[in-house]
Amino acid sequence: MADIHPVPERVRAGSPSPIPDMDRYREIYAAAQNDPEGFWLEVTRQRIAWDKPPTMGLTGSYHEIAQGPITWFADGELNATVSCLDRHLATRGDKVAILWEGDEPGDNRRLTYRELHAEVCRLAAGLDALGVQKGDRVIIYMGMVPEAAVAMLACARLGAIHSVVFGGFSAESVRDRVRDSLAEWVITQDEGLRGGRKIPLKAVVDQALDGEHGVKKVIVHQRTHVDVPMKEGRDVFYQDVVAGRDAAHPPTIVPAEHPLYILYTSGSTGKPKGVVHTTGGYITYVAYSHQVVFDLREDDVFACVADVGWVTGHSYIVYGPLANGATTVMFESVPTYPDPGRYWDMVQRLRPTIFYGAPTALRALAAQGDTYVKKYDRSSLRVLGTVGEPINPDAWRWYYDVVGEGRCNIVDTWWQTETGGICISPLAPVTATKPGSATLPLPGIVPVLMSPDGHIQRGPAEGLLCLAVPWPGQARTVWGDHERFVSTYFQHFKGYYFTGDGSRRDKDGYYWITGRVDDVINVAGHRMGTAEFESALVSVDEVAEAACVGFPHPIKGQGVYAYVVLQPGVEPGEPIEKLMNGACRTLIGAHAKVDLFQFVPGLPKTRSGKVMRRILRKVAEGDPSNLGDVTTLADPGVVDVIVKGAKSL
Ligand code: WTA
Repeated sequence: MADIHPVPERVRAGSPSPIPDMDRYREIYAAAQNDPEGFWLEVTRQRIAWDKPPTMGLTGSYHEIAQGPITWFADGELNATVSCLDRHLATRGDKVAILWEGDEPGDNRRLTYRELHAEVCRLAAGLDALGVQKGDRVIIYMGMVPEAAVAMLACARLGAIHSVVFGGFSAESVRDRVRDSLAEWVITQDEGLRGGRKIPLKAVVDQALDGEHGVKKVIVHQRTHVDVPMKEGRDVFYQDVVAGRDAAHPPTIVPAEHPLYILYTSGSTGKPKGVVHTTGGYITYVAYSHQVVFDLREDDVFACVADVGWVTGHSYIVYGPLANGATTVMFESVPTYPDPGRYWDMVQRLRPTIFYGAPTALRALAAQGDTYVKKYDRSSLRVLGTVGEPINPDAWRWYYDVVGEGRCNIVDTWWQTETGGICISPLAPVTATKPGSATLPLPGIVPVLMSPDGHIQRGPAEGLLCLAVPWPGQARTVWGDHERFVSTYFQHFKGYYFTGDGSRRDKDGYYWITGRVDDVINVAGHRMGTAEFESALVSVDEVAEAACVGFPHPIKGQGVYAYVVLQPGVEPGEPIEKLMNGACRTLIGAHAKVDLFQFVPGLPKTRSGKVMRRILRKVAEGDPSNLGDVTTLADPGVVDVIVKGAKSL
């Protein structure tokens, strides 16, 4: 196992990071472990613009989480946009804050910190005039346009709580989120543009709000200027909301624990939950992790090609980079438009120094060969990051050797919507890497591997990944349902945050994330719940029962495998598969699709009626040799039928 890549000299040299080498990492890690409160108070005082600096560190604990959320910096007061905008004006006013690349190559916009500040203030003033108040929920359903970031920041400016919904989600999903958050405001755009295709965002919002009476205003940014129906009294154009507004609007100062945003994410059961991030701890953690992981330097151009609809976009397109006064790229298009060279064409033109993307995209691009990469100059790149799913060693090596020409360090960053920011990752100038390993925890993060019965595994081991101590960036609760927060994350192992992931730890203490151990499927880095798929499938009249599991997919990481029991007399086949995938699209979104259907006479259930997913998973993974004990099944015969009829790509 000599596949260790030392940090390339070019990455190590001249690092301004507070953690520039391994000795310092060990020191700081130990310091943070010995005195987490002192450590984080120091970090936040140095990095964040507080109106009233905090004197308190942590309150509460994982043991007492059922009694209420933990808090960080609870006596501090601030507004996150002051850290992201105002305080940069004196020194970085003319520096580019957002560098936008539109759907068509070379369609660029650059907003300096001064311009972004003014634009955020104008929208905040406009929203204020419409009646948006501190604590109100605002749904943002937009594509990747600078106005989406402006909308997030304008909400934060007012102390309103944004909830960004990824622009691929369906009207049903938007409606669920409006209802769950009791949002009174929606910000959207006429159409989105992605890979040359138009996405009817406003039309989806109209459909979502049909018959809903709680939403007071829908603000519509015009991206394509197509005619969209505007509902009298409810809909207003973004341009009209900001017109004539002042370029300075005072920030609403909020307590540290005031919610900054809600982001809905899929779990193993039921509907997506609204993960709540609060202000002071979150902004501290994203600023800190962004700097130490990527080794941010003043003249860096940081290109995270995620979407603001996911947590990666929140933390590392908007809040982290802006809090650090960096130039952050927003990318509206897709990696294959107009051809698979798009990323590298963009790299040649915009000259980012740091590139942060998803393994799925890398696998898809690697499959197209190297010429699309080599055609373009990538000499600006210094750090290459991945996020969202495990990266297989082949894709890792392709990224390292072909894209980075061996000159860049790769940071495989493990984290989750719930963790707020990166938790396990190489630090670019510090950590020698191993392809496929997320390596070591950040200071303040204490991973433990549990056996299923709750014993902590020491040394090299495999187990269920838990985090043992609180850190400022972690989610505080589930919107409107703290009990669900507790039962989802803190019930499995008392006193520990359970991530839902499995992991291995090697002799060097490096972590190798093996993937979800619950019923979350991670398709192309998009997190989806089997329960959501199953309820979409059974919404089709012809379907009696359905069970979904993930299976290994060569490009997407995981694909969705559905076992379907049809109503009597219904013919299996493509027409019904189309109907089912149509239902997934309508009820979840454009990114939700079953890859393999298997029609079965029945599902393997225990005598108490519980579907034995373990068996379904094994069969879908193409490994039915070791199904374990099936004697508790109500009808063991069904297993043979399922094994014989198994599908593969
Ligand atoms: C997976 C995305 C392996 C993991 C930031 C986690 C990863 C889930 C990695 C969270 C990684 C994320 N290696 N697996 N580097 N990063 N994951 O909430 O299963 O969309 O639990 O947050 O993605 O997905 P989420």
